[in-house]
Amino acid sequence: MSDSAVIYASHYGFTEAYARWLAEELAADLLQVGKVRREDLEKYGTVVYGGGLYAGGVNGISLLVKNAERLQGKKLYLFTVGASDPMDPENIANIRKGIDKVLPPTMLESIKIYHLRGGLRYSQMIMVHRTMMAMLRKVLLKKPEAELRSEDRALLETYGQDISFLDRAAIVPLVKDIRQGTVCA
Ligand SMILES: Cc1cc2nc3c(=O)[nH]c(=O)nc-3n(C[C@H](O)[C@H](O)[C@H](O)COP(=O)(O)O)c2cc1C
Repeated sequence: MSDSAVIYASHYGFTEAYARWLAEELAADLLQVGKVRREDLEKYGTVVYGGGLYAGGVNGISLLVKNAERLQGKKLYLFTVGASDPMDPENIANIRKGIDKVLPPTMLESIKIYHLRGGLRYSQMIMVHRTMMAMLRKVLLKKPEAELRSEDRALLETYGQDISFLDRAAIVPLVKDIRQGTVCA
């Protein structure tokens, strides 16, 4: 058993792909969020959690919230996986706002957060997600062209098509930090 765990929640495999790559690089145990038992968390010194972004929230993040005390003192890392461009500061600010609302302040002080890019898999989407995407499209179509962000335009242009921005090289900074044991000051 490793001292590190990579735990993930993934609907369409994007977060899972990053989690697998990370676990491989770090020789960490790979665990699916639904299969994690509370006692399991106690065994690890380093816990990396990854979840896809859904309407601004991180899939499965309640695992961290519910186990905040149990995770205290461990090296904690969180990565989000979304369709939006994680190099865009506005996107990062929005994701951070969502995370700040749910994680307890003590955890926010110690967890290191990263943002990776996944994709959209319309061909496999469950009905509720399909409906949410259709609603988003409707909202965007009603907006004046000048108010659309480049991502909004891209979403409209590629609506209905499967797209992937998966990039193994994007995990390099996480791997480096985790190997060095870098945590928030
Ligand atoms: C209904 C729905 C809502 C989404 N909301 C967001 C969002 O708020 N921000 C974002 O960047 N991506 C959003 N996405 C895109 C997902 O985060 C993206 O597909 C991600 O790669 C999913 O990872 P997973 O397959 O591991 O669950 C959304 C996708 C769906 C279907």
